[in-house]
Amino acid sequence: MNDQDLGKRGLWGSKVAFIFAATGSAIGLGNIWRFPAKVSESGGAIFVLIYIIAVILIGFTVMLAELVIGRHSQKNPVGAFKHIKPKTSWKFVGYLGVLTGVLILSYYSVIAGWAIGYLLKTIRGTFRGGVTGEFTQQVFKEFSSDPLQVFLCFLVVIGITCIIVSKGIKSGIERWTKILMPFLFLLIVFLAVRALTLPGAGEGISFYLKPDFSKLSGSVVLLALGQAFFSLSLGMGMMITYGSYISKSDNLVSSAGWVCFSDSLVAFMAGLIIFPTLAFAGILGKASGESLAFEAFPLIISTIAGGYFFGIFFFALLLVAAITSTISALEVAVAFLVDERNWPRVKAAWLVGLCALVIGIPSALSTGGMQFFTKIRFLSKIDFVCANISPAVGAFFICIFIGYVWGVKNAIKEIHSGNPRFKLQPVWIFSLKFLSPIVIIFILYFIKTFT
Ligand code: TRP
Repeated sequence: MNDQDLGKRGLWGSKVAFIFAATGSAIGLGNIWRFPAKVSESGGAIFVLIYIIAVILIGFTVMLAELVIGRHSQKNPVGAFKHIKPKTSWKFVGYLGVLTGVLILSYYSVIAGWAIGYLLKTIRGTFRGGVTGEFTQQVFKEFSSDPLQVFLCFLVVIGITCIIVSKGIKSGIERWTKILMPFLFLLIVFLAVRALTLPGAGEGISFYLKPDFSKLSGSVVLLALGQAFFSLSLGMGMMITYGSYISKSDNLVSSAGWVCFSDSLVAFMAGLIIFPTLAFAGILGKASGESLAFEAFPLIISTIAGGYFFGIFFFALLLVAAITSTISALEVAVAFLVDERNWPRVKAAWLVGLCALVIGIPSALSTGGMQFFTKIRFLSKIDFVCANISPAVGAFFICIFIGYVWGVKNAIKEIHSGNPRFKLQPVWIFSLKFLSPIVIIFILYFIKTFT
């Protein structure tokens, strides 16, 4: 079915189609690249524990809140706030989301480009036979500090994203994700089983799963909450946008639950692969940050018979997972320009893509490509703002908006359409009105002390 056949804005083909598209947005580099990096920076298992609590108590609450706003208004984030509370400043929450979406697209596509680079390396046989931790660290250094390679891969990602979004995401994306996401999941399960049976895996597992409570600090909570927002694509209007295409007869609560669950499961399993592998290679604790996943995955793959093909398969699927996320990041801004400014979809997609390309240049140059950007750690700074600060601000205002401005009653009415018996209602209301905003405000207030 074509988007045009679905009426002016169109709806997802089914509830399952929405779940696949939203999971496609959620699952991506955030799970496989960012989550393990934050775990290793923030003391291991304690981070994992706080992360899981953050997803259940706050992530789920905010996701449902965004879906409610989206489906009720059937609009992009800016239009949604204008529709529900016309002539107020609430629309700025939507603008913040649109802006954050573009910023995320800019640097996220750089990392997605790394996946292309690694796919090509794997095809060329770089990781065939005798791979060590030192070797994969060296390969990453060389690759990421070559500005031309990094930029070209980045350009390809932005190009593919613009092509798909300019065609309208609802028809194409459903088909793709339905076939490819299950494959990614199976491959990850397979790699996890392999990693857990490596000699020396135990040390990695205990780093990952045995919390050391002495490492609990404000900054762990800040980073875990930020990771939850980032990984679930929350706080920036993404779920308002995707929610606007959900049919009135679908159950929003179970949809939100599914997305939170499957996203967290994939992140959790990525950790089960990475930490045992690093321990096996003797580089647990020596490797961390942006390069972690790109050092660990070639290693684990090289320990498998037929690893050459698994490697190609893995980086290809990682790329698909990343692109289903870049698509959704671009879609937020495009939906805004199409709905609110009446731009043609094609023009909106290419122009926003071009902006992201320009904004992304410093990120592409900040892993060794250019000294200035490398020194100020541009990539990790923009990532910090886009994952920790902006979504937290957005999520805070979304909670306040529903809890105290639009009114919980109206939100519940929207949820009851498709789910007349909303059992978690009191818990959700409590989290929405009190728990989530208080935790978020606390974290934002103390952000200087934590970092
Ligand atoms: N959730 C995505 C991931 O984990 C990345 C992401 C964060 C995102 N915020 C977003 C995607 C907003 C689209 C829109 O990889």
